[in-house]
Amino acid sequence: MAKSGRNLVLTTISLDRSSGKPLYLQLYRELREAIETRRFRSETRLPSSRSLAQDLGLSRKTIVEAFEQLVAEGYLDAKVGSGTYVSRALPQEIRKPQIRSRRASNAGVPARTTSRRGQEIAGISPFFPAVKAKPFRHGLPALDAFPLKLWTQLAAKRLRSLPRDLLGYGDPKGYRPLRDAIASYLGTARAVRCEPEQVVIVAGSQQAIYLAALVLLDQNDCAWIEDPGYLGARGALQIAGARLIPVPVDEQGLRVSAGVKLHQNARLAYVTPSNQYPLTVTMSLSRRLELLEWAQASGAWIIEDDYDSEFRYNSRPVASLQGLDRYGRVIYLGTFSKLLAPTLRIGYFVLPPELVDVFSTASSLITRHPPALEQIVLTDFIEQGHLARHIRRMRTLYMERQSDFIEAARRELAGLLEITPPEAGTHLVGWLPGRIDDQVAVKKAAERGVEARAFSTYCLQVSARGGLVLGYGAFTKNQIRAGMQRLATALSNC
Ligand SMILES: Cc1ncc(COP(=O)(O)O)c(C=O)c1O
Repeated sequence: MAKSGRNLVLTTISLDRSSGKPLYLQLYRELREAIETRRFRSETRLPSSRSLAQDLGLSRKTIVEAFEQLVAEGYLDAKVGSGTYVSRALPQEIRKPQIRSRRASNAGVPARTTSRRGQEIAGISPFFPAVKAKPFRHGLPALDAFPLKLWTQLAAKRLRSLPRDLLGYGDPKGYRPLRDAIASYLGTARAVRCEPEQVVIVAGSQQAIYLAALVLLDQNDCAWIEDPGYLGARGALQIAGARLIPVPVDEQGLRVSAGVKLHQNARLAYVTPSNQYPLTVTMSLSRRLELLEWAQASGAWIIEDDYDSEFRYNSRPVASLQGLDRYGRVIYLGTFSKLLAPTLRIGYFVLPPELVDVFSTASSLITRHPPALEQIVLTDFIEQGHLARHIRRMRTLYMERQSDFIEAARRELAGLLEITPPEAGTHLVGWLPGRIDDQVAVKKAAERGVEARAFSTYCLQVSARGGLVLGYGAFTKNQIRAGMQRLATALSNC
């Protein structure tokens, strides 16, 4: 029989508000430790997030974030309509602490723990799980439209006559013909000003953001991040030791003046100017110029993540921030995850020339170099004109999928979710009526087989309104229709 653990929790939780460590992380660790050491026994019921928030003087969002992390890792079970319980069957890994504590009690044998960084990493929510995506997972391109046959032909042709030296260690900056092809693509398609020597290939933007933070920041240096913003960037900057300064975003993108008021001397700003993540707004020209002036005046770096910029529907793609930069402060990031497929793990930097060597050394110390075969096939794909054709096809397909999505949403979700077609990208934010909590809506949607992310997950400051981040790019018309009906049922039950 499940027992209420209310008093138990309250007497054992201790949080240090002056430590500067996120409160949800402190709470998460306290609860995890209590479960690992069996102070909280399996099937013990935890107090509701509302009453725990009240008793600990925290926001409900903080409690929910800590609970969600523990649920995701298997320490807790959330039972709909009944509450949150310590899991009956704890995952294999967390049996380890018992062994550890037995060892630790052996005199003279030190306990084995992870570093502080390891603990930070353990506290970060994982990305989407590596399971088949359900509607409306966002961040995925149309995998059904990936030109698999053509890719196979290009790969087979190359493999049949591959010079053996390409099987050895490669250039840490990446395969030179691919760097040439990317430089000329960026010059024409994104108004990026660069020579091939400035291009360094890496394993996707995720690695790029981490490398940039590692090379450019000292421990506790301040970094502006967009609020709401991309969790992948937030996590990578955090584990590289940055102190995050959340800067609000409005319909013109990052509010530079707010950033200056919050922390003028930040060392770095991470932005998504072409298609703000997750709001999808485009940074205005005046904000771009203001950001560049701030970076130049304060000696800061700007990371421009241009992740989904090719897909604009009613206007031409906006030129990159890097192309406006007269001072050499912008580090431009691109990725083939959205243009082609995330599994390729091919992304790239365009760096100011003086940073090329240090970035390439950092990259080589972590991965030596990106896998050569994918780079070679991708080079052929670009050089033979397939990439340009693929982008044109995808733009049309995403436009169709967006209108299928909007049409289905207007039919099924009236009064439940307010949706406006975004100018760009393959996802959107739908706004919930004030009475519906977005975390609850996500859970209800999941019960109906619909994937959504709560808008509040992306906010560091409390968001005024709850919303759902929904992707439409990866799903067919039929999947969109069926998913929308299920989402409507879920939201009607919130
Ligand atoms: C804002 C943003 N940047 C970059 C990426 C791509 O990351 P990667 O190149 O590591 O696959 C994503 C993927 O979801 C994203 O949302």
